[in-house]
This record gives sequence, C-alpha cells and structure tokens, in this order.
Amino acid sequence: MFRNQIICGESLQVLTQCPSNSVDLVVTDPPYLINYKDSSGRTLLNDDNPEGVLPVFDQVSRVLKPDSYCISFYGWSAIAQFSQCWQAAGLRIVGHIVWPKPYTSRAGHVRYAHEAAYVLAKGKPQRPEKPLKDVQSWQYSGNRSHPTEKAVKVIAPLIKAYSKPGDLVLDPFAGSGTTAVAAALSGRDYLSIELEQKYCQLTEKRLAGVARYCA
Ligand SMILES: C[S@@+](CC[C@H](N)C(=O)[O-])C[C@H]1O[C@@H](n2cnc3c(N)ncnc32)[C@H](O)[C@@H]1O
Repeated sequence: MFRNQIICGESLQVLTQCPSNSVDLVVTDPPYLINYKDSSGRTLLNDDNPEGVLPVFDQVSRVLKPDSYCISFYGWSAIAQFSQCWQAAGLRIVGHIVWPKPYTSRAGHVRYAHEAAYVLAKGKPQRPEKPLKDVQSWQYSGNRSHPTEKAVKVIAPLIKAYSKPGDLVLDPFAGSGTTAVAAALSGRDYLSIELEQKYCQLTEKRLAGVARYCA
C-alpha cells in the first residue's frame, strides 16, 4: 500500500498510518530550521518551525526495519536540536558525510561551502559491502523547481550503498522528489511524502520521466 507512492501531506500524520518495521532505508533532506529564503524570495515550509520537523523522526524510527539506516542532511546551526531528537528516537550516529562545494552558498563568519549528512542506525545494521567514502562529490541541481533541490547524482550513491534492489526507500521531506527519482533509477521502491502540492505534482512528472527512461 505504501510502495511507490507520492503522498501529499504532513509526514507525522501520514507515517502514523504506515506499518512499523516496513521501510528498508530513509534518505531525507529536512528543513534545516534556519528560516531559509533564497535570492528570489522562495522559502521552505516549516523551516522556522522545529515542531513541524523534529517529531517526524520518531515515526521514521518506528517505520524503519530493525537494523537499518537513516541518512539525514542537516543544517549545522540546528545540530543540537537534530542530534537530541535523533537520539531520543533511537537513531544512533554512525557516520558523517560531507560534500565540499566548489562555490560559496553564503558568507558570514566563514564562507559556507559544504553540505553534510549524518548516517544514523536503528539497531545494528549489517555494514555495507562497499561503505561510502565520507567525502563525496557535489553536484549543483540548479534549484530551478525547488529552492533546495538536491541533484540525483548526490542522492543515488547513498541509496546504492545502503540498500538493495527492491528495497523500500522513504523520504518524509521529499521536496521535488529527488530521493524517489534516485530510488526508481536504482531499482528500489520509494515512498515520498511532501506537504506542498506543487512539489508532489513535480515529483509525479519526474517519476513519469524515469518510467519512460527505463521502458
Ligand atoms: C529541504 S526540502 C527537500 C528538498 C529535496 N531534497 C529536493 O531535492 O527537492 C524539505 C521539504 O520538506 C517539506 N516539509 C516540511 N515539513 C514537512 C512535513 N512536516 N511533512 C512533509 N513535508 C514537509 C517542505 O515543504 C520542503 O519541500
């Protein structure tokens, strides 16, 4: 019922309907809790509202199968809140991946020029056959359709390293659906949950393109 679905809704509510221990891998890019606004004024829902983001990880942990992985991007300025909520949800930090960018996103106390994600474990997952190096190549998506879109080439190696063909990959903060697209292109099933309808429609279009590409 939850395989290969794009669900437009609030993740906390949607995941409550999802059976426990049913998801093989979570790859997600939640709002970084920084009140983000890009140069053209685009914002992200819940980026100023930790209550709309952090409690979702309790459900993520419940729906993940025992001994499996969750990979979550995060914003460094809210790491205390994220790490506290992951720990409370039973998700243990087992690795950290960085993507150095060849350009600066923003300048302040330093020039901000990398993205980062934590590798979190529920239980004791079997280690991947080919563990990823914790410094990965970045590719800029162009952010044309979504203000913080990740490139498929950034997400696909995570899915390939931490899941098997046919596994179910969940993204509870799906945006334009990059995780679902990368999962489909890698022969995995997906469950993509996103609040904003325009991004759910975009995900549908992108996945229709994948189906044509794979046909
Ligand atoms: C950082 S963006 C993800 C971008 C995505 N990685 C991509 O490549 O397009 C986070 C997304 O989470 C969505 N969101 C925020 N809170 C949510 C919630 N409680 N349930 C579902 N989606 C949510 C926002 O609308 C936003 O599109």
